[in-house]
Formats: sequence, C-alpha cells, structure tokens
Amino acid sequence: MFQSIEEVGEKLGEQSYVSDRRLATVVFLATRLGKPVLVEGPAGVGKTELAKSLAGALELDLIRLQCYEGLDEAKALYEWEYSKQLLYTQVLREKIGETLAPAESLREAAEVLRGQEDVFFSENFLVERPILQAIQADEPTVLLIDEIDRADEEFEAFLLEFLSDYQVSIPEIGTVRAARPPVVILTSNRTRELSEALKRRCLHLQIGYPSSEVELEIVRLKAPGISGALSEELVETIQDLRTLDLRKAPSIGETLDWAQSLVVLNAPKLSKDLIESTISVIAKYDRDAQRMLDHLGVNARERKDLGQMEPTGEKPEEAMYEMHRSVHKHVH
Ligand SMILES: Nc1ncnc2c1ncn2[C@@H]1O[C@H](COP(=O)(O)OP(=O)(O)O)[C@@H](O)[C@H]1O
Ligand SMILES: [Mg+2]
Repeated sequence: MFQSIEEVGEKLGEQSYVSDRRLATVVFLATRLGKPVLVEGPAGVGKTELAKSLAGALELDLIRLQCYEGLDEAKALYEWEYSKQLLYTQVLREKIGETLAPAESLREAAEVLRGQEDVFFSENFLVERPILQAIQADEPTVLLIDEIDRADEEFEAFLLEFLSDYQVSIPEIGTVRAARPPVVILTSNRTRELSEALKRRCLHLQIGYPSSEVELEIVRLKAPGISGALSEELVETIQDLRTLDLRKAPSIGETLDWAQSLVVLNAPKLSKDLIESTISVIAKYDRDAQRMLDHLGVNARERKDLGQMEPTGEKPEEAMYEMHRSVHKHVH
C-alpha cells in the first residue's frame, strides 16, 4: 500500500494518470482507512481510468463490474450453475437406489436426500461474479463498480452490506467475508442522485474538467505524437468550447481523440478548415457542432446561407454558384 500522499501521485503518474493533491489525498485515505471511494463527475474526466491506473500503481488485479439498468445480484455477486446442477441430478437419479440403499426407514432416506441437497447448493455449483470474485480473491484486488448511477436503486441497497463490511450473505451458504478486502472504486456520471446510505459508506471525490495545465499534461502523456504548440492550441480551443451551452461538452476523451486525429492527418496547426472537417471528433450532436463552429467563427455565415438554400432547391445553378462563391471566400 502507499506510504504517503506524494507516493500516490507519483505512482499514478507512472501509470500516465495525472492527479492533483486532492485526488491523491482521497486515494491515500481510502487505502489507509479501507473505505470505498465514490468518484463523481461528468463523462470522460478520468473516473474509470483512475481505477485502472490505481490497480496498475498498486500492482493489483482489476475486477470490473459495469452497471446497467436491471443489473441484479445474479450478475454482480453469484449465480447457481443450473446446467451443472441438472447434470448432477441425472447422475443422482441413476444412483438413487444405491444412495438410498443403506437407509432403513423413510426418515433415514429423507436425511440422505437432504445431504445431497446441500451438495447442490455448495460452492461446486456457484459461478462467481465480480463482487464475489473480489471477496474470495487470495490477494487484494481493485474492484471497480463502474457507473453505479445506471443501476437501479435496489441494487444500490444490495451493495450496502458489502461496502461497509466487505461481506455478503448467500442464503444457501451463509456469510462470506473477504479475508483481503479489495480497494473499491465506485463511479457515477450523476445521471441520478445516489442514496444517502451509499454516500455515507464512501469517501467522496468530485472530478471536473481539468485546468489547461493538467489537460496539456494529459495530452503530452497520452498523445505523444503531437507538437507542443499544436497541443496548446488544441487544449485552449477545447477549454473555450466547454464554456458553451452544449448538450455534451467535449471531455478529455474527445481532447485525446482530436489530438490523435491531428497527428494522423499530419496537421501543422489548427486552421479553420481543419476545425470544420474534424469537428465531429469532438461534437457528439449536430447542434453542438453548429454551436462550436459558430463560436469559433468557422464559416458560420456561409454555412447558414447554404443551409437555407438547400431545402428550396428551386434554382440549382444559383445554389451551386452561391456554394462556389462561399467555398472560394472560405479558402481565401
Ligand atoms: N487524469 C488523467 N490522466 C490521464 N488520462 C486521463 C485522465 N483523465 C482522463 N484521462 C483519459 O481520458 C479518457 C476518458 O477517461 P475515462 O476514465 O474513460 O472517463 P470517465 O470514466 O470519467 O467517463 C481516457 O482515455 C483516459 O485515459
Ligand atoms: Mg467511465
């Protein structure tokens, strides 16, 4: 485990994860206090990546549980392996005479059968899902419970026992407790409010969009092919676009995609042409793309002209002429 807050920052840095003192402190405390961390923030700000990098930094295995609507215990904790149980039933049926032969009375026969039933619901027939895997692992692991806000509230309630004691109750087997508790990271994109009970059991970490300095550092680490000047230009543009009222603001993921696209396209600088032709890399909705281009003063006027002409389609020659004119104007 980590010896200091500084060490957390350094080790995460070695995994190409850029952190600040606040994040490093929460992670340090979580590992020391044995508490789960609830990481909240918009999509694409490094919540999932934190869990992955932490596993790398601690040299522990990462076990991941992706949450979704309808996720239940059978997929998160354990499931009985019906097909194997069925097979066992067949064998049992063939052997039933032999098995029951020593029984002298009906009661004894019933006892013997009950003993067989226990075998059915033993660990032989249990399929371990991520949470049980983390509990039963010989070494501590990092358990990522990703996008918990996607799961139903009942599932959240089900997690409470696990999050406070690193144990779960399986009716047929009893309580199973982790000998080596995992480091648990829960993430939420905040599509809904999580329960007080869940929050109480976790240390809280809010991650927002990074400062220019941090984002530049991330680009330097994750998109090394891009020149310093171009990455500065790109990060500045992205930071500027985040101030707009967008349905989906560009996140760090988009910044990195854009940086990589520019490397692939061998772009020397961020020209208006280039912005226009690559805007779909950072804008996930048409309306957002429009707003971004308008804001950056890219071809805004011409685009509007074209947009108005297209639907009428009455005078194609004129439209073509207008289009040429605008392209011409745009190029020069
Ligand atoms: N602090 C960071 N240091 C390094 N890379 C980061 C950081 N934050 C985000 N990234 C990168 O940004 C992308 C999106 O991060 P991700 O963890 O998937 O976001 P989230 O889970 O918050 O939606 C990933 O490619 C990740 O590597
Ligand atoms: Mg994620």
